Amino acid sequence: MAHYNTVLLLFILCQLSRAAQDYLPMSVCPPGAREWQIEADRKKCQQPTPDYLCAAIENWPGHFGEICTKFGLSPSGTCVVLNNLTHNVDSVSCNAQEGCPDKPYNPKELYNWPVCYGDFYGKDSEPDAEPGDSGLIIGVVLAIPLIIICSLVVVFILDKRFKWGLMTRLSSCVPERQEDDTENSLLDTNG
Ligand SMILES: *[C@@H]1O[C@H](CO)[C@@H](O)[C@H](O)[C@H]1NC(C)=O
Repeated sequence: MAHYNTVLLLFILCQLSRAAQDYLPMSVCPPGAREWQIEADRKKCQQPTPDYLCAAIENWPGHFGEICTKFGLSPSGTCVVLNNLTHNVDSVSCNAQEGCPDKPYNPKELYNWPVCYGDFYGKDSEPDAEPGDSGLIIGVVLAIPLIIICSLVVVFILDKRFKWGLMTRLSSCVPERQEDDTENSLLDTNG
């Protein structure tokens, strides 16, 4: 049993190290097919990861890296990037105004969409869409008790001014209300 666990652990470690084995940070990626081929020949990717890829680091515009991988088609409207932690291939939604991949593509043609090497994340990734709504809700929730309190104060003042006697009628309904002091002080400040 212990033997089996050791083998399993070695297998997992092997998989993990293989994932990042060929990663190298790059200052730029090949800008065209010819340069791409030169870099691919230099890196000499082999089975089971025979495909050379140079891509941007996810969420980190201006940083690039190259790996050996096995390509599949990338969906239209996404950019191929490298995960910052694992350096594995990720497909990320392209939110740039223009220049996003408009068809499924093989990542070895990534140089056709230079926007995927820049800041294509758009405004959606910034957390400024939500707070407007929650701010409105908080405002309404705070405003309702304020409006009620203000209305009560206005009624109270009008009641005193015009001697409607609402408060005396109220205090006769609720026994032992000691409102005389507050009533007098409010009356004083209001002349
Ligand atoms: C990516 O990793 C580097 C170093 O490992 C770190 O300095 C950087 O902040 C990371 N970028 C993001 C977007 O997480």
